[in-house]
This record gives sequence, C-alpha cells and structure tokens, in this order.
Amino acid sequence: MPIHCTDEARLSATVTGVLRRHGARREALVQILREVQERTGWLPRSALALVAAGVGLTPAIVEGVASFYRFLHLQPVGHFHLLWSDNVTDRMQGSHALAQELRRLLAVPAGGLSADGRASVGFASCTGLGDQGPALLVNQQHVVTRMDSQRVHDLADMVRNQVPLADWPAHWMQVDDQVRRSDVLLDAPSLQGQALQATQARGAQATMSELSASRLRGRGGAGFSTARKWALCLAAPVPEGGTRVVVCNADEGEPGTFKDRVLLSRQADAVFEGMTVAARLLDARTGLLYLRGEYRYLLDPLESVLARRRARGLLGRNILGVEGFDFDIAIHVGAGAYVCGEESALIESLEGKRGTPRIRPPFPVERGYLGQPTVVNNVETFCAAAQIAWHGGTWWSAIGTPDSSGTKLHAVSGDCERPGVYEYPFGVTVAQVLHDCGARDTQAVQVGGPSGRCLADHEFQRRMGFEDLPTAGAFMVFDRSRDMFEVAHAFAQFFAHESCGFCTPCRVGTALVLQRMDKLAAGLGSGWDRTDLDDLDTLMQGTTHCGLGASSTHALRDTLERFGAAYDKRLRQPRFTPGFDLDGELEPARRATGRDDPHAHLEQKG
Ligand SMILES: Cc1cc2nc3c(=O)[nH]c(=O)nc-3n(C[C@H](O)[C@H](O)[C@H](O)COP(=O)(O)O)c2cc1C
Ligand code: SF4
Repeated sequence: MPIHCTDEARLSATVTGVLRRHGARREALVQILREVQERTGWLPRSALALVAAGVGLTPAIVEGVASFYRFLHLQPVGHFHLLWSDNVTDRMQGSHALAQELRRLLAVPAGGLSADGRASVGFASCTGLGDQGPALLVNQQHVVTRMDSQRVHDLADMVRNQVPLADWPAHWMQVDDQVRRSDVLLDAPSLQGQALQATQARGAQATMSELSASRLRGRGGAGFSTARKWALCLAAPVPEGGTRVVVCNADEGEPGTFKDRVLLSRQADAVFEGMTVAARLLDARTGLLYLRGEYRYLLDPLESVLARRRARGLLGRNILGVEGFDFDIAIHVGAGAYVCGEESALIESLEGKRGTPRIRPPFPVERGYLGQPTVVNNVETFCAAAQIAWHGGTWWSAIGTPDSSGTKLHAVSGDCERPGVYEYPFGVTVAQVLHDCGARDTQAVQVGGPSGRCLADHEFQRRMGFEDLPTAGAFMVFDRSRDMFEVAHAFAQFFAHESCGFCTPCRVGTALVLQRMDKLAAGLGSGWDRTDLDDLDTLMQGTTHCGLGASSTHALRDTLERFGAAYDKRLRQPRFTPGFDLDGELEPARRATGRDDPHAHLEQKG
C-alpha cells in the first residue's frame, strides 16, 4: 500500500533511497519514478524536483518523461487505484457495467477520484488477462481476475473498510496459466543450463549455424529471421568500453495477447537461458528484460528465478565456469504505454526517456541501448532459441511449414468455451483452433490483435503462419451476436488512446478515425463519412513514423470489407451531417457579445 506521503522529509528520504538503489543513473529514470510512486502513491512536483536533482536533469525533462507514461501519476490517485482492463473482450464480459457499479458503490465521480481520496476508478488498455477477465489492476501491482457483480460488491466493502491488499482473498488475485494445448515449448522441461552446455560444447559459430538451420523467425509480429538479426548485431562494431546488449521484449501490449505472460510464469528459465545463449553467441555482457507495467505482479517471481540462476552459475561472472563468459539480466518494468513494445521506443524507455520510436537507420542491431549494438527479441523467440540451442536446428525446422518453422503460441479469448493458451505447430487452420477452443456460431476472428487481421467465416480454412496469417499471438473470437462495428470502434479508441503523438498522420489520423466512428455510433453518419474513413485508411498507409499508425486501420478496413452491413445501418443521414452541434458551439460567443438574434445563429437546414 503506498504511503501517500506529503511530508517533505519522508519524501526526501524515500527518493534518496530509490536513487541510491539505482546509482542515480539517468537511464534508470523511468524505474526511479515508478519506484518512488510505488511508495508515495503519485508524483508531486516536489518528488519530481528531488529526482531531477538526483539524476542531474532539469525538473522539466523529468516531468516530460513522467507525463508520457499512463501509469505515472502527476495528480493524486486514490489509496486504492483501480483500473479496469478495457479490451473489447472485457467489454463483452460486461466490464463497463461493472465499472459503473464500482464507481457508484465507492462514490467515485467520472473524474476518477472519490472525495475522501480513498479510491479512484478508471480504465487501462488490455491487461493481458483476456482468458480470465474482466480483470482489474489494483495500485498497478496486483490484479483481480474474473470480476463479477458479487466481486465488485465485496471489493467495494474492502476498499471502504481500508482492508490492506495483503488481506484480500488470495483467490481473487489468482492468475491461471490456462494452457489448453501444449507442444515443444510449453512441454519442455525447465532449462537449467542444458541449452548453454550444448552451446558451449558445439561452439558459438556452430550454434549460430543451428539457429540459421532452424529458420526461426521472430514471434513479436514482424517475423524477422532471428539468426539474421543476431548475425547483424555480431557484425556491428562495439563502442569502446561498451558491449553488445540482449533485450527481451516482454511488453505484450497488443490487446488480446497473453501468451508471453504464460511463458514468463511457466518457462522463465527458458526465456533467460535463451537470452544467455544469445549473449554467448554475441559476446554480450548486458541483458535487459522489459516487463510491461501491467505484469508488475510477475516481477518478484522473475527476480527469484534470476537469483536462482545466478546461484547456479548460469548468470553472472564466468558462466558455466567459462572464463570471461560474463552476462547478467536486469528487469525493467514499463509504465503503461503500448508504443513501448516497438523496439526502438522500448530502447528509449530503457534509457529513461519518453517512449518515442526512433528514426531508423541506424537500427538497434547497429546502435541500440546506449549506442551499443542490441538485439531485441520477443519472449517466445528466446524460448524457441533456447530449445534450438539444445536440440539443434534440424529438429526445430522439421516442425511447422516451409516458411514458418516450429510452433506458435496463441492466446485465445472471446466467445468460446475454453479460452487460454494453445500451442500448435505453424500451419494450423483457424477452423481447427475454433473447434479446439469450443467456439460456436462464430462470425469473425481477429488474428494478431487490433493491429492484425479480421477474418469472416469463409476464411476459417486459412492457416496460421507467415505464408498466410502472420500473428503475434492474439486470437479473439466473436460469435454472431456481436456487432462488428462496435469491435472496430473499440479498436479505434485503443489506437487513438495509444498514439504517442510524435507524427502528424498517426496523431491526427487516429483521432479523426475515432471521431468518424463516434459519429456513426451516434447515428449521424452518411455516405460521406464512409468515404472519409476509406480516405483516412489510405492516407495512413505509408505515412506514419512507426508500425502503430500503419496498422491502426487494419481492423477498420477488414470490417468495412467483410461486415459492411454493420456500418451501413449506421449511415442513416441522407447527406453530410456535422458530428457536433455547430450552432451550440457558438453559444459562448453569443453570450460574450450579448446577442441572441436570428443573425447570431447558423441557419439550421432540415
Ligand atoms: C506499436 C508496436 C508495438 C509492439 N509491441 C510488441 C510487443 O509487445 N512485444 C514484442 O515482442 N514485439 C512488439 N512489437 C514488435 C517489436 O518492434 C519487434 O519487432 C520485436 O520485439 C522483435 O522481436 P522478434 O524478432 O523476436 O519478433 C511491436 C511493434 C510495434 C510497431
Ligand atoms: S505512428 Fe503513431 S505511435 Fe508511431 S511514432 Fe507516429 S504518432 Fe507515435
């Protein structure tokens, strides 16, 4: 429970302690701010000033960084800060009505904070618990899963009575792995050095050849060849006194994705071993795991795994007793920004800055973390790389399809009986997954999250894989009772919310798309708006700075093409109609000039 201290002496002691823990390094700024806030509840100006002085930056820069991250609060929040996961699948499970009920019970106004300061209630983007939602983040350190009306009432009682979180029912905070189908990654025994020993016995170059033979492609979405990425990093010169860097991307921000959460719970050793294999091949000394803020509750278990691996000589100095094989991993916890999953934004965040995607080239493999050659790979990619280092490339490439070797984890949620994680060899059909998860009367599947593709039932024989349906892992099922316009509307809200604002096509484009969708939802749409949506989609292709903007209209385009009727029924106006009351907007001007005559009003056309 945060201390919510306003006492300057205590605040100063708190900040000093956190700064000391991080050696007052500038690149640790996001961690420092997050940890101070964990102790103080929010970040008053005085705390920012103390941090700024400690790391040698101006308060304006520190505030600029803090204001970028949704989980860093520059205004007070409640002693119990409750954030509802706001993915479309949470909404399908009634999260909005539950949130309203919780607000009513706790007397929390729309602004978010109760008058007594006890509770604040708001929304966060998907918290990665779509298989056991609706979920609630509490003080950004705990989660309550499977919220329902009873739980809302019980939780409101706990908050009203100021029951410490440690005394809340443990089963509320239980996060289940829900593995429904496992294969070589999820079934693998815990790696306690087997992959490292195989690498050591074979040699670094030969292991790189195995990785190449495996044809492993990245699991974070883009599907870049892992062997090629690592080879490019190895070829890049290292600045004097520096090192190559291995970064694991555990940001998992794509709504509907939660397979990395399960890998981090079940196969953390494989993730860390994969990173250590990479370090051996790249001669890297620094490892960083970027854990999304929503998974803060995984930090302590992951730190324990790291400590155990250090004690066993699998991390630290002279790993496996090999002279000069020095490598260790630190965990950096994110602070609620989807764009930080983009690898260059992630590196900025690791360096303690706002998570703005970098201009490339140079690519991270050439100049990444603190200017050093850096590989960034997804959690699942490192798991696969570890197994490949152990069993060899031919073993891996025999699984899956020619262009998509190995297995892939899918996070299945939405309208089905058995949501959870399913691991299949690549090449499985959408229909097979639907059958296995107990989906019935399915209208659509969103593969790869909001930035992925939306499929209609005539496409369910399509196959998962880079040849046909690339995916980072989300598989959201919508049955025929769902309104696909509302699904696309929810995704438009997500992108407008998450755009970092750096480039105009995305900042303005995502806002305009949302405005048009809001207008259609309000029944004010006409054929003009539909054309405008098409134009916005075209405009945003190829003009945005990073992949967020470029993929933000995928769901719009797919649903317009496949579920046009859901839009058509909202195009009720025969001709263009403004999305807002133009005459009403002039009211303040009329008041200021003391006029209300007919000429001070716009002519209203019927
Ligand atoms: C907006 C945006 C968000 C992303 N989020 C993630 C993420 O959460 N996890 C991830 O592994 N990759 C994410 N990526 C892809 C990364 O930029 C990068 O390609 C990936 O981490 C590389 O790892 P891989 O080669 O193992 O796939 C995202 C990309 C974009 C444009
Ligand atoms: S495309 Fe969007 S998220 Fe990416 S840099 Fe531009 S504004 Fe930021």
